[in-house]
Amino acid sequence: MLVVENLDVSINNNIIIKKLNLIVNRGEVHIIMGPNGSGKSTLSAVIAGNKKYNIINGKIIFNNNNLLDLNSDERARCGIFIAFQYPIDIPGVSNFNFLKTAINNIRKSNNLLILNNANLISLMKNKIKSLKMSDDLLHKCVNVGLSGGERKLNEVLQLLLLEPKLCILDEIDSGLDIDSLKLVANTLNSMRNKHRSFIIITHYQRILKYIEPDKVHILYNGCIIKSGNKFLVEKLEEYGYDWFTK
Ligand SMILES: Nc1ncnc2c1ncn2[C@@H]1O[C@H](COP(=O)(O)OP(=O)(O)OP(=O)(O)O)[C@@H](O)[C@H]1O
Ligand SMILES: [Mg+2]
Repeated sequence: MLVVENLDVSINNNIIIKKLNLIVNRGEVHIIMGPNGSGKSTLSAVIAGNKKYNIINGKIIFNNNNLLDLNSDERARCGIFIAFQYPIDIPGVSNFNFLKTAINNIRKSNNLLILNNANLISLMKNKIKSLKMSDDLLHKCVNVGLSGGERKLNEVLQLLLLEPKLCILDEIDSGLDIDSLKLVANTLNSMRNKHRSFIIITHYQRILKYIEPDKVHILYNGCIIKSGNKFLVEKLEEYGYDWFTK
């Protein structure tokens, strides 16, 4: 499904990602962990199509599409969703209008019928309820006035409604309280199926209490230095990152 091959990325002449290789097959859940500043968010931004970053070398292929030839909108239409580490405010755009545009654009790309407002409202309310959020959210502007944890839940709401094929979640667990973390993890588990893949970027072992990953990777200094199963995280907790670089 996703193949990242020999990727080198720079910004302002600083190389941030170096010879990164990653293969995520359909239906798999991958966890990426790594020290602060190791390039995890840069990798998500590059897959999302953020033009700030300079791709020096390498390929990113998603379901036979060369992603580097597509703009971020086209990548979203292909079924890629990124929940950013710091979800931004969009003043002046209500959640309802934002979600409506996103849902119907993606449905159009998949040759599905456009949903009318009544259908959209009922769909959105249903998902909002499942995340124990308030319906008022629909009238509020995207992320404006939301707490850190509420922003993360709002990202999960988008994920639930857009039903992407590849979900890249950058620190979706940061800032969530104990109950919300469980709710988010259960929601992600409920979305798992043999066609949908996840890349979950995290600093903490705790989300792995609820989510069973297929693979765990350590991203260090812009490069994946080690891949393994969930037991890699236990080693990491015990020895720290430096142990893996010796
Ligand atoms: N827009 C930018 N301009 C300059 N440097 C940048 C930019 N974006 C990222 N960097 C640098 O690239 C490196 C990797 O940053 P990135 O945000 O990808 O790290 P990360 O692994 O996500 O860290 P964290 O765990 O703290 O979120 C850092 O040294 C950062 O300063
Ligand atoms: Mg980051």
